[in-house]
Amino acid sequence: MGEINKVAVIGTGTMGPGIAQVFAQNGIEIHIFDVKPEQLEKARESLNRNLTLFAEEGIIKKSDIDQILSRIHTSSSLKDAIEGVDLVLEAVPEVPDIKTKIFSDLDSIADDGVILASNTSGLSITNLAKVTNRPAKVVGMHWWNPPIIIPVIEIIRGEKTDDETVRTIEALINRINKIPVLVKKDVPGFLGNRLQYALMREAIALLNDGVASAKDIDTMIKAGIGFKFPVMGPLETIDMAGMDLYN
Ligand SMILES: NC(=O)c1ccc[n+]([C@@H]2O[C@H](COP(=O)([O-])OP(=O)(O)OC[C@H]3O[C@@H](n4cnc5c(N)ncnc54)[C@H](O)[C@@H]3O)[C@@H](O)[C@H]2O)c1
Repeated sequence: MGEINKVAVIGTGTMGPGIAQVFAQNGIEIHIFDVKPEQLEKARESLNRNLTLFAEEGIIKKSDIDQILSRIHTSSSLKDAIEGVDLVLEAVPEVPDIKTKIFSDLDSIADDGVILASNTSGLSITNLAKVTNRPAKVVGMHWWNPPIIIPVIEIIRGEKTDDETVRTIEALINRINKIPVLVKKDVPGFLGNRLQYALMREAIALLNDGVASAKDIDTMIKAGIGFKFPVMGPLETIDMAGMDLYN
């Protein structure tokens, strides 16, 4: 697979429009499709609103808005949406039956070389791949909300995802000015949600034990260690201070 130049985003609820915007802002042609036509209308409104805001904030030029929007095409069927694309990214609800149906449909209509990616927050990529005849070309591409702001995108390797697919998605993420992290094993919750849920579990335990108020527990993260995280992750902190301090 060479460069990805045309992408279909399936499902334009909370995540789809923002994902489409990032691709389009970085020069990639996008087709969007949703089973509910009103969702496509809402997506257009959200795209207009967010691009206007980005221009007001100086993130993009106002004169670029029309060109960015011209790269986003609305499709009236799944078949039209995936015509001639190099990558399909689904962002339909986190319901296994809906996801497997979409993957099975996509596999039957997309050309053999097309990569099928899921924005699932934690469902098994390996299981989604099993309903297709191209498990090597099925991969997780997990964006964080809001996709127009959060830099990281997780690449989740299913048991059969091949190196070329991983490399292609990694190159694409770099090209759209996002930061890739590779999840080498297809574990529930992947990387970000595993870490986030560990922190949430501890926050609930501390609250239950009466150690601090809910407000103070959140303030501890927001005004305390959360301040350090953008520059130093937990493993870098352990590495700097020494294992003897943290065992
Ligand atoms: N919302 C978040 O904060 C967030 C963050 C990261 C990842 N995700 C993941 O992204 C995916 C989408 O989440 P969301 O919050 O955008 O969901 P959502 O419910 O807001 O939107 C899903 C959209 O998919 C459409 N849809 C349903 N079935 C469809 C089908 N068969 N074909 C085409 N469109 C269909 C719906 O009409 C809806 O507009 C989920 O897998 C979720 O786990 C969500």
